[in-house]
Amino acid sequence: MVKLERINIAGTGCMTRVISILNQKGGVGKTTTTINLAAGLAKKDLKILVIDLDPQGNATSGLGVEKMDIVKGTYNALLESVPFDQVTMVTSTQNVNLIPTNSDLAAAEVSLSGVEKRELRLKEFLVSNLGSYDYVIIDCPPSLGLLTVNALVASTDVIVPVQTEYYAMEGLSQLLQVVQQIQTGLNPTLQIFGVLLTMYDSRTSLSEQVRAEVVRVFGDIVFSTVIPRNVRLAEAPSHGKSIFEYDKWSKGSKAYKALTKEVIQRGN
Ligand SMILES: Nc1ncnc2c1ncn2[C@@H]1O[C@H](COP(=O)(O)OP(=O)(O)O)[C@@H](O)[C@H]1O
Ligand SMILES: [Mg+2]
Repeated sequence: MVKLERINIAGTGCMTRVISILNQKGGVGKTTTTINLAAGLAKKDLKILVIDLDPQGNATSGLGVEKMDIVKGTYNALLESVPFDQVTMVTSTQNVNLIPTNSDLAAAEVSLSGVEKRELRLKEFLVSNLGSYDYVIIDCPPSLGLLTVNALVASTDVIVPVQTEYYAMEGLSQLLQVVQQIQTGLNPTLQIFGVLLTMYDSRTSLSEQVRAEVVRVFGDIVFSTVIPRNVRLAEAPSHGKSIFEYDKWSKGSKAYKALTKEVIQRGN
């Protein structure tokens, strides 16, 4: 089994694990994994902060937060010196707090490009505020731009969801290159925590072929938990609920429960 060291957020002594959910492809299960891993960890009585770094705001709405209830969010965290408490909201899921996306975030890539230490904004915002959280989970946008770079600089770990389909591996070498650049530069202790196969369809041999290929390339780092294709997982966000609240007996719920366990084990 893979064992990962618990590393503090670069030199700050903070022991919170900060996990970026990263894949520059859209629709691979990043947001679904963010919400349900957060909820799974929260059920273990761990304190979780979700950061919605995708301008589409799917993690925000999927956690049941309405746009009109958002006063400040990720944009303000990155570009203005607002106090941490002003951008953090409680959600209806116990133990899960959220820094929501607000509509301005779409402009953040451009606005950030003009500011000093633009890659460090999220890290500097979080550094002295994570004490009360066990895990921070960052839902990354589907790109490798400045928002994602901010996520990687602020993170201790990366989880890469990979959709079990024909083009699964496309883009992964580029993703690894970016992670490597961050490791050799701004965040040497960043590590790939795991690769997660999503939307696995046991009725097709293609799913199994793709799984085998991903395991051949990435080895031990692939989680043994595989997330099946399950319609309940797709339905839950429109009710603003995690899969555990929406349908705890579903295949999707069992899979995210198993993933939660594996994440905790790997991290110990
Ligand atoms: N395991 C799954 N089974 C069925 N549908 C899924 C599953 N995971 C995600 N989905 C659905 O697929 C779409 C893309 O997933 P999402 O998590 O939003 O991906 P991303 O954040 O990478 O764009 C969403 O509509 C989501 O509800
Ligand atoms: Mg998403």
